[in-house]
Amino acid sequence: MYQIPRGTRDFTTEEMQKRRYLEDSLRTTFQTFGYKEIQTPMFETLELFTAKSGEGIIEEIYSFKDKGGRDLALRPELTAPVIRFYVDKLQMEAKPLKLFYFGNCFRYDRPQKGRYREFMQAGCEIIGADTPEAYAELIAMAYYLLKNVGLKDVKLNIGNLNILSSLFETLKISKDKQKQLIPLIDKSQFDEVLTLLQVFGVGKKVANEFLEILQLSDIKKITKIIEKDESAKKELAYLEKILNLLEKSFNIKNYQIKMSIVRGLDYYKGIVFEIDAPLLGAEKQLCGGGAYELVSLFGGKETPTAGFAIGFDRTILALETEKYPFPSTKIKVYVIPVNEETIDKSLEIAQNLREQGISTDIDLLRRGIGKSLKYASSINAEKAILVGPRELEQGSVTIRDMKTGEQETVKLNDIQNRVN
Ligand code: HAM
Repeated sequence: MYQIPRGTRDFTTEEMQKRRYLEDSLRTTFQTFGYKEIQTPMFETLELFTAKSGEGIIEEIYSFKDKGGRDLALRPELTAPVIRFYVDKLQMEAKPLKLFYFGNCFRYDRPQKGRYREFMQAGCEIIGADTPEAYAELIAMAYYLLKNVGLKDVKLNIGNLNILSSLFETLKISKDKQKQLIPLIDKSQFDEVLTLLQVFGVGKKVANEFLEILQLSDIKKITKIIEKDESAKKELAYLEKILNLLEKSFNIKNYQIKMSIVRGLDYYKGIVFEIDAPLLGAEKQLCGGGAYELVSLFGGKETPTAGFAIGFDRTILALETEKYPFPSTKIKVYVIPVNEETIDKSLEIAQNLREQGISTDIDLLRRGIGKSLKYASSINAEKAILVGPRELEQGSVTIRDMKTGEQETVKLNDIQNRVN
């Protein structure tokens, strides 16, 4: 017997129904915000992903040489591919360009619940807009994408990496030292951050203020602490504009300011945000994104870019944890040829119903009435149509309501009306 590769999954028919429901709902919301769908390849040149992140990222992704000796990689995410596509073919499109996508991603992660080596993202990028309203709309869309799929408990956190950079600069923390601090900040290990800051020669009072900013969610209090840092103050005022729009125009009030959001990927700059489903525990982050810079690195004319991606698989897990009643697609009608003589006509009846958009299945195993009815009830069919030779001679069939067991004789040309 063959084993499925570690970190990958098969999906049952029930799971696929849930996944299709989620995909349809997300697609509808993206479209109501004026976004248009695109697709990029599953694999890209390895260089596309090392360009910003360096060779270190190779440890975390699936990279390989093809038969022509080219270095390629399965995409770990879609932002770099979408920006490659933009620089190559879409730069002349009217701005802002609002693009969304669904796609499988591959990361050499340690698999656990909610963390896979193959997983799906639903994401988007907005290219050519950096007004407060553009960011507010982007964050609001992320929030409503998750709300519209039926999730109740989501937590929106918003931060700004420029503020963090500006604070690092004020504290004279070099890029190398930042690299040591950032993973600790990411994991909210603030005691360790404090210790390390002091090792780096930052005074206790200043280090404590820095930590306070990372943990405060009151914008007024943060402004007070950073009063002398002009550039951080400017960023904060900009953030405040976005937050006002979120509250007043998009009716989103339950968000948190979180300056400790650092994001894992290397291309972010400015506004960043994450949405969590607290019920999921360790792998609770459903969505992450923000403003970033990649266009000029990829050879394009500089323009503002921002976006986010929703972890599709985690969103399913969150919906299941909240016991969301996923709609299921059911077979409406099950057609039963009573004997071999009526098989032709039964197939024709089934086909006519399908052409009218009515989901119809038919006994293909010549099982007879008893077993076929049992099967029809096992697949939750609403009606069974019994096609018997004598009735057929009179131009009719029997329709059975699978719930009540009631039966009626119906003329062939009236079947559609009776089953609908
Ligand atoms: P990311 O935070 O790396 O961002 O991934 C986005 C989401 O994908 C995460 O919040 C999580 O829900 C899901 N995810 C990540 N890794 C895994 C995994 N191993 N298994 C299951 N789900 C996972 C990005 O990828 C950026 N490209 C988002 C973006 C778009 N930023 C700007 N535009």
